[in-house]
Amino acid sequence: MESCFTTAAARPARPPMTPEEFRSHAHVLVDWMADYMRDVGTHRVLPEVAPGDVRKRVPASPPESPEPFDEVMRDFATLVLPGITHWNHPGWFGYFPANNSPPSILAEMLTSTIGAQCMSWQTSPAATELEQATMEWLRQMLGLPETFTGVIQDTSSTATLVALLTARERASDGDTGTRGMAAMAVPLAVYASTEAHSSVPKGVKLAGYGLDNLRHIPADNDFAMRPDELAAAIALDLAAGIRPACVVATIGSTSSTAVDPLRRIGEICRRHDIWLHVDASYAGAAAILPERRAMLDGIELADSFVFNPHKWLLTNFDCSAYFVRDVPALLATFRVTPEFLRTARDADVVNFRDWGIQLGRRFRALKLWFVIRTYGVAGLQAILRQHIALAAEFRGWVEGDHEFEVMAPSPFGLVCFRHRPIGATDGERLDQLNRELLARVNARGPVFLTHTTLAGRFAIRMAIGQWQTTREDVARAWGIVRDEARLS
Ligand SMILES: Cc1ncc(COP(=O)(O)O)c(C=O)c1O
Repeated sequence: MESCFTTAAARPARPPMTPEEFRSHAHVLVDWMADYMRDVGTHRVLPEVAPGDVRKRVPASPPESPEPFDEVMRDFATLVLPGITHWNHPGWFGYFPANNSPPSILAEMLTSTIGAQCMSWQTSPAATELEQATMEWLRQMLGLPETFTGVIQDTSSTATLVALLTARERASDGDTGTRGMAAMAVPLAVYASTEAHSSVPKGVKLAGYGLDNLRHIPADNDFAMRPDELAAAIALDLAAGIRPACVVATIGSTSSTAVDPLRRIGEICRRHDIWLHVDASYAGAAAILPERRAMLDGIELADSFVFNPHKWLLTNFDCSAYFVRDVPALLATFRVTPEFLRTARDADVVNFRDWGIQLGRRFRALKLWFVIRTYGVAGLQAILRQHIALAAEFRGWVEGDHEFEVMAPSPFGLVCFRHRPIGATDGERLDQLNRELLARVNARGPVFLTHTTLAGRFAIRMAIGQWQTTREDVARAWGIVRDEARLS
C-alpha cells in the first residue's frame, strides 16, 4: 500500500546509492582515509588558497540531476582537499590541538551510519546510558569529586554559557528564567581573569548579564587570576548593591595555559554563595596524569567544570565534557517539556535534552568510549606525557639560545616565546619583528604556529599536542624558526 507521503510517481526509480554501491564506495573511502592519516605530514599544514578561490569553483546552483559518486569524490580531491587546513598534521602547533584518532574516526563512521538523534533516553537508550557511563569514566580518570555528574556538550563555549545561565537562575531564585532580567531589582555580576577565554564575555552577553557587569580581574606575573583582586571586586559590588552571581576560573588559559588558584578562588565563592565555573577546556585533559592533578586542588569547591576531549584527548571535534554538582539547578534552568516529548519512562531515566540548550543531540559518547577503550587510560597518559616532555625540551632549546626568550610558564604542551636579537628593546618594533618571523615560518609549509599577546607584547605560541607529532617534528619546527630568525 502506498503511504500518503510517497506516491508511486514521486518515489525515485531506485535509491541514489544501493547498499552494494555504498559498500564499494565506502571501501575506496576507507582506503583513502588510511592513506591520508599515514601521509598527512606530506601536505602543507596551511593550504595555498586566497579568499574566494574555492567558492568560485563551486557551481552557483545545485545539480538538477544525480551526479556519479566518483565525480563527487574527484571534486573532493581536486577542489576541497587543496583548501583544507590540516589540523591533524604532525607539524600542527597552532592554537590548541583538535585531535582525532583512528578509533574516534571509526566510531564517528558508526554514529553517522546509525544516525540516531539522542535527545531523550527513549530516542536511543544506549546513547544516553553510554554517555552516563563514559562521563563517569572521565570523572574517575580526572580525579574529579564524586559529587560531579557529567554530560556531553558540543563545545566549551556552550558549556560555559550553560554554567552562566544556571548561575543566573540560581542567583535570581529562578526569576530571570520566568520574568526575564527585568525581574532583578539589582544587577548580577560575573568575574573572570583578564586572561579568560572570549567565550566568557560572549556567554555573559548571551545570558543577559550585560558586558558592563563582567569584571575583568587582574592577573599576576604568571597570568593567573589574583584572588585578592577578585575579593576586592566582589566587595565593591556588594557595597554598590550588585549581586555577584558567577566566577569563571581558568585552568590552562588560551594565551599561555596559566592556572588560576582554584582553592583560594573557591573559598571566596563559597563565602559569598557564588557559582564557580572552571574552564579547563584544553588543560583539563592533563588531569588524567596523577602528577598534574595539583592544578585542580580545590575543585570540590566548584559548581561546574568543563574540558574538551576534542582538544587533547584524541576524540574528534565536537565533544566537550561538562560536569556539574547541582543537577537540580541545571534542570531547573533548562527543562521545558512539551507534551509531544513526554514518554512513559521519564520518571525513571535521564533525558539529556534537559541538560543543555539544544533539543536534538548527536551520539557523541560512542567516539569517547572507543577512544578510552582502544588506548586505555595508560595509553592516553603516555601520549600526554610525551607531549608535555616535548614541550619541556622545546622550552629548553629556546632558553638555551640567547637570541630568544620564553614569555610565560609552560606547565603543559604550550610554550610562548619570541625572538629577541641581542640589544633589541621591548616595544612595537620587536612585536613587528616577531609578527614577520611567524609569517615566514608558516609560509614554509611543514609547520604551523600561532600567536597571542602577553602583557601587551607579541608572543609566538608553540602548542604541542597533535597525536602523530614526534620529537623530529618539534625539532624541525625549531630549526625553521631559527633559520627564519637569522633573516630578520
Ligand atoms: C580556555 C578555553 N576556553 C574555551 C575555549 C573554547 O572552546 P570551544 O571551541 O570548545 O568552544 C578555548 C578554545 O581554545 C579555550 O582555550
